[in-house]
Amino acid sequence: MIIGVPTETAADETRVALIPPVAEELLEAGHEIFVAAGAGAGADWADEEYEAVGCEILGDRDAIFERADVILQVCGLGANPDARTDPYSDGQIVIGQLGPYESDDATLAALADRDVSAFALELMPRISRAQSMDVLSSQASLGGYQACLLAAEELPKMFPMEMTAAGTIKPAEVLVIGAGVAGLKAIATAERLGANTKGHDVRLEVKQEVESLGAEFVELNLPTEDSGDEEGYAVEMDEAFYEEQRRQMQRVVPESDVLITTAAIPGRPAPEIVTTEMIEEMDPGSVVVDLAAETGGNCEPTVAGETVKVDGVTVHGPTNLPAEITHTSSQQYANNLANFIENLTEDGELAIDLEDEIIDSTLLIHDGTIRNPHIEDKTADDESDDDTGDDEIPDGAADERTVDAEDDDD
Ligand code: NAI
Repeated sequence: MIIGVPTETAADETRVALIPPVAEELLEAGHEIFVAAGAGAGADWADEEYEAVGCEILGDRDAIFERADVILQVCGLGANPDARTDPYSDGQIVIGQLGPYESDDATLAALADRDVSAFALELMPRISRAQSMDVLSSQASLGGYQACLLAAEELPKMFPMEMTAAGTIKPAEVLVIGAGVAGLKAIATAERLGANTKGHDVRLEVKQEVESLGAEFVELNLPTEDSGDEEGYAVEMDEAFYEEQRRQMQRVVPESDVLITTAAIPGRPAPEIVTTEMIEEMDPGSVVVDLAAETGGNCEPTVAGETVKVDGVTVHGPTNLPAEITHTSSQQYANNLANFIENLTEDGELAIDLEDEIIDSTLLIHDGTIRNPHIEDKTADDESDDDTGDDEIPDGAADERTVDAEDDDD
């Protein structure tokens, strides 16, 4: 196959979809690779390094789209906030983060008409065979790490406990809400830095993972039985659930020096878990990093892409932390893509096998149609938004199952 790597066009994007060592593996597998001049520069890979492994550099970005069978991107279509529509060729294969939930139907339909096949890697199923291709996980993990470092650098306190001749320093209190991929990495990083770390999630099955990292699990008294699906994603709950969660969080959040929020439901707005009032009660100098900023944020004052101050507390709403650790994030992303391509080919030839769950799930446009069932599911959800409103909090729930956060504090 002829593989093309254009430069990324989103304003804050430093990553590149393919790095020279991974390109070398694809070349050895018999593929040909064109790379746009400067495509790797943001991730510190020079054109000469691509050429040294056998890639051809093209000075004209559009020529990549004219000459390649397969385009590899970090962020294309709906995942590119700067929404440049790339000049895909008829029948081209596009692989990348394509923002399946954000893409507008007209753009997708136009590509479908031109027989473009688009693989949106955000739709990767959470099965073990797909782990090596899962860009959301590889990038979220780096995002969690980076969020913790951002907070550690900014907090006017050190993370670890220290007993010195000048007195004892208490460890910083770090709370991470949402213990999925990004959250667990943030917890692990905070623990390594010596903070007193707590993690909270509505999926109680992650309690053990949080504790195995050395952190304390904050278990609220909520009816969480139906809060997760079989793929390990959270399910959207009704407003009464979130109201109760916020009520109980009121006691937990103000005790933190650092709050990192990562609570997410695929394809849906982020649940609002932390109010401005809770943040106002944190000590001045405390730091909040809201990783869910791009989908609306878990914290009321979050502004996507900006940093705001709330009563002396800094609230960050970063939208692309993996791009700040670009050498590693590009390496991980490129490895994910190479594994994906290997799964997509047989004897070096493209083999789109719709019986393969990984191919079937990620294939957003193919054969003239926008075909992803996840998108249809979401449309159905939107049409009957009562679907998520069945999980009323039972009366007296406070007496059952779990320990209330208020009791926890005592
Ligand atoms: P994930 O799906 O692995 O984890 C999300 C976690 O949130 C799940 O464990 C889920 O159970 C939990 N959750 C959902 N609702 C909750 C609630 N009401 N209370 C507590 N926990 C709740 O997702 P992942 O990959 O860890 O990503 C998390 C978020 O971080 C996503 O929004 C993602 O887009 C974002 N992200 C942002 C980056 C940035 O630079 N801003 C970088 C990487 C990820």
